[in-house]
Amino acid sequence: MSEDRIVQSLADEHRIVTRLVDNVKSVVAVIPKVNRGEWLAGIRLEFGRLRVHMKQHIEGEETGGFMEPVLEHRPTLSAEVQNLKDEHLQFAKLLDGIWDELSSVTPEDDLLIADMCHRIQHVISAIERHEEHEELLITFVFSQDIGGQY
Ligand SMILES: [Fe+2]
Ligand SMILES: [Fe+2]
Repeated sequence: MSEDRIVQSLADEHRIVTRLVDNVKSVVAVIPKVNRGEWLAGIRLEFGRLRVHMKQHIEGEETGGFMEPVLEHRPTLSAEVQNLKDEHLQFAKLLDGIWDELSSVTPEDDLLIADMCHRIQHVISAIERHEEHEELLITFVFSQDIGGQY
């Protein structure tokens, strides 16, 4: 894959993640007092989509995605790449933990719902920081090549 193609395909993938993240954010922004059953079903739907997509996204980055070319170009960045991989593992755990809770929480569980929404917002912020970090990393690696410094 060419460098332009790697940068472009990561940007395309991240646009999809952003759309799914925004959908989840808009559902958890306000906890309604009525129709909570329906609202919870909406969270399950949107969060479920994000969770499934993140697993595919992570798999794609680690196998056949940007990580291998980055390491080939800049082996000195192996700690950075490892850190991103470590975060991938933690995302999988966090997303699975929230997903399990989403299947057991009931509309009356005020405290559990509030806690779950905080955790959803927390993992979303972490995902956003992570994706930004990846884009900065590949821009740094490949723009140096494009600039002819190598
Ligand atoms: Fe990633
Ligand atoms: Fe990513």
